Amino acid sequence: MKKLYIETYGCQMNVADSEVVASILADEYQISKDINEADLILINTCSVRDHAEQRIRKRLAELGIMKKKKPFLQIGLLGCMAERVKEKLLNEENALDLIAGPDAYRSLPALIQEAAIGKKTFNVMLSLEETYDDIDPIRYDTNGISAFISIMRGCNNFCTYCVVPYTRGRERSRSSQTIIREAQQLINQGYKEITLLGQNVNSYRSEENGEVVNFARLLEKVALLSPHVRVRFATSHPKDISDELIATIAKYDNCCKYIHLPVQAGSNVMLQRMNRVYTREYYLERIATIKRMIPDCAIATDIIAGFCGETEEDHQQTLSLMREVGYSAAYMFKYSERECAMAAKRFKDDIPDEVKGRRLEEIIALQQELSLESNKNDIGKTFEVLVEGASKRSENDYFGRNSQNKVLVFPKEDCHFGDYVKVKVESCSTATLKGVIVK
Ligand code: SAH
Ligand code: SF4
Ligand code: F3S
Repeated sequence: MKKLYIETYGCQMNVADSEVVASILADEYQISKDINEADLILINTCSVRDHAEQRIRKRLAELGIMKKKKPFLQIGLLGCMAERVKEKLLNEENALDLIAGPDAYRSLPALIQEAAIGKKTFNVMLSLEETYDDIDPIRYDTNGISAFISIMRGCNNFCTYCVVPYTRGRERSRSSQTIIREAQQLINQGYKEITLLGQNVNSYRSEENGEVVNFARLLEKVALLSPHVRVRFATSHPKDISDELIATIAKYDNCCKYIHLPVQAGSNVMLQRMNRVYTREYYLERIATIKRMIPDCAIATDIIAGFCGETEEDHQQTLSLMREVGYSAAYMFKYSERECAMAAKRFKDDIPDEVKGRRLEEIIALQQELSLESNKNDIGKTFEVLVEGASKRSENDYFGRNSQNKVLVFPKEDCHFGDYVKVKVESCSTATLKGVIVK
């Protein structure tokens, strides 16, 4: 059988998509972990920031050299960059034989065949329906403990800085029955943690046999499959994180007490310009509700520094909001203008790069403080931890995460990967909690 090597960049949705691609090609290709033995290399790409695309351009140059030595090697580009730049890439990047956008993966076998007779091909059609519902992903890069299930595709929010609505197309939800079936299969195979994925999972909605399933209901259905399997989800848009959803998370022990609720900016002027459709006050009210209904909930966020027209005062408001929420973790970025997104057409990318950089550094420094503070608060507490693997730093330690998505490191004892153990926290750094197993 021919060998397929897939390299995945970008978000978890791309990781899940690569598993779908492996499944679509399974009749002809076996996944290989060794790029040198590959007959076909597929690069699943991200376009979210310019830096992500630059990295992929570099990688394609390297692969071009590899291809010179191996003329029969085929190279294909998938994902968001494929969708954004489209067929132009075939001219710009000599290494490429084919291009397939995120909704075109079913056409990969045909594209590969055409490419084999020397015809460079592409399919970047977006779809209003495609959810790859019926395809069982091949989880080829798994620890056997955690798995992702993609529950919806696309995004309708059109935040003005963002390429995703253009690269992934319109929002559509998968049927809840196929999601539950996939979750049950994972549980039968011994998985202990399932993450439900979408750009905005809170707007999940499906209607089957007269039953309307919203995200809170879906989460509940998955949580009820087994009390020993954790359920996580990403990402939530603050505009529709409902009390019903928060109550569902609170109700089930196996719904993880961790909410990733990207705020992006702390000032109302910026939020409006970003088309986030909520205010600072609304966001803080949602946070207060989460804290009230789930007192032990960890909250993480995404922040963009230096968006168009951001004043020093706007930036200070981002910092003060971060303090007010006390995030346990954050993903922080400099604004990167994307040609196809609305902001590029409407606003000037007018914050000098040094200013963006300085603001980002201040945001990162503050988050380090907040993470440390949040971790220090956990010293003395005992958490249930899912053992995920051996610590990279020390042979004598294992690591795992608690419900709040914090990493705990503890000395190896009589336990296995995939077990739940109770760990008492004794010390911490900004990134990890250290503890010992207690009975
Ligand atoms: N759907 C998710 C996020 C997808 S992109 C959500 O809405 O939360 C992940 C993160 O990348 C975003 O939350 C945002 O913080 C960041 N991001 C998106 N576009 C960006 C851009 N043009 N420049 C810098 N950061 C960006
Ligand atoms: Fe992008 Fe906004 Fe959609 Fe997230 S919600 S993917 S940031 S447009
Ligand atoms: Fe990147 Fe596309 Fe995900 S742009 S972040 S791979 S949806």
